[in-house]
Amino acid sequence: MKKATGADQSHPLFRQVCEFILNRMQRGEWKAHDKLPSIRLLAEELKVHRLTVFKAYRVLTEDGKVYVKDKSGYYVSPGDRALGDGSSEGAAVSTYSLTNPLSDIQRMPVQYQFSQALIDPNLLPNLFLSDYVKKVFDLYPKVMGTYSSVQGDEELRETLSRHFHDQHRLQLSPQELLITSGAQQAINLIAGIVLGPMDNVLVERPTYSVAMDIFRRAGARLIPVEITPQGYDLEAVEELMRRHKPRMFYMNPTHHNPTGYTVPARQRKLMVELAERYRCLLVEDDPFRDMYFGEKPPPPFFAYDTEGWVIYISSFSKYVAPGLRICAVACRYPFMERLITAKSLADNGTPLLNQKIFLHYYTSPRLQGHLGKLRIALQVHKEIVEEELASAGWEWTAPEGGLNLWVKLPESISVAALFDRSMEQSISFIPGEICDPLGEMKSWLRLSYSFASEGVLREGIRRLVMLAGQLEK
Ligand SMILES: Cc1ncc(COP(=O)(O)O)c(C=O)c1O
Repeated sequence: MKKATGADQSHPLFRQVCEFILNRMQRGEWKAHDKLPSIRLLAEELKVHRLTVFKAYRVLTEDGKVYVKDKSGYYVSPGDRALGDGSSEGAAVSTYSLTNPLSDIQRMPVQYQFSQALIDPNLLPNLFLSDYVKKVFDLYPKVMGTYSSVQGDEELRETLSRHFHDQHRLQLSPQELLITSGAQQAINLIAGIVLGPMDNVLVERPTYSVAMDIFRRAGARLIPVEITPQGYDLEAVEELMRRHKPRMFYMNPTHHNPTGYTVPARQRKLMVELAERYRCLLVEDDPFRDMYFGEKPPPPFFAYDTEGWVIYISSFSKYVAPGLRICAVACRYPFMERLITAKSLADNGTPLLNQKIFLHYYTSPRLQGHLGKLRIALQVHKEIVEEELASAGWEWTAPEGGLNLWVKLPESISVAALFDRSMEQSISFIPGEICDPLGEMKSWLRLSYSFASEGVLREGIRRLVMLAGQLEK
């Protein structure tokens, strides 16, 4: 086992021992109620001091992964969602699991696709895309013959740093931007740098489930922060930061997925102050900012940060070109150095051709002019769903932007049963419990209204409401 050095304080030896034990449990080699090796035996096997193993067992016991029988030793706890401290916080800890239920649902071919928060490709100006592709090959004939720099094409980073300044008041140099292959890669890279086994991470409740799956795979403990139409309860967040010392808070505060809520401006500045005080990175995932229906949303948290505690992830997948997988991550040095190294290890740079096509397509007057129409189209889609749900007795807060409606069903209807029935009828949605770090929220569901065409959307929602009616107890 690798000894922790001064430079590796973030991953001390007892944590590596925890990781070893959890790995064996995860692989099923040590099952529920199995007796674990004695401290002496494990210390000999791993060539570490007995106290290190003792500390690892103590941490795992406190976390509910392991239990002690008097005079008999340590045993594997049943279930993988054991409580850490008797409260519901941190309850959704499922370390080392490789799951992605969202993707499992989205991979099912269905006629009425309401599980995918993507825009109907027919709403994008596809016809003109070939003009930009041709332009790129004319301007850069050798574009296919070279790598991008790891950090991303300089011309694109210069353009985006100006764009972020003009649009969102962000003060950024091109050196403070990294281009990744989608927001998902950015979340992955950041988790890989920041999180180790047993680290605490704050996540909104509910949240984007793939981010939770990434953090769980890193072995982190998820601590839920409730998000409501009014934003966060900052006193509660401060208490969580004080008590749990989280390494980071992953947030999607603007037209939030799945709820559509937007955290008000006054909370943004205060949250950045909390992050500084408690040394907790804020990872601000912001893919829906430009999809607003009325007023523009407040500036990103990043705009209030002067000390480098916010990492800003701006994906263009949602409304420019999902197929290009272009996302910009903004952060300050020295974190940027670590991010560039992580990116170099992941794929050595996002494909240059995609970056150049994106640059010319995104900055074109045609696409920028198109955005206004796209917002109107999305609002119409949202209103179609609201009209069809109006008589169903379901509850939701009308979102001011984004691609999803977060809906609460009456107790008399089981969302799980509705999911099974609707999948049989070729209708998909996301059950709320998948988005909940505690795995509860069983009366909720997420309907994405952006992917299906208007006619399909209306018909599919009508059928869904009818199915729910048949299930009502
Ligand atoms: C909040 C959030 N973050 C990130 C992503 C993934 O974005 P990308 O396609 O850029 O990887 C999604 C996709 O649904 C999302 O909803």
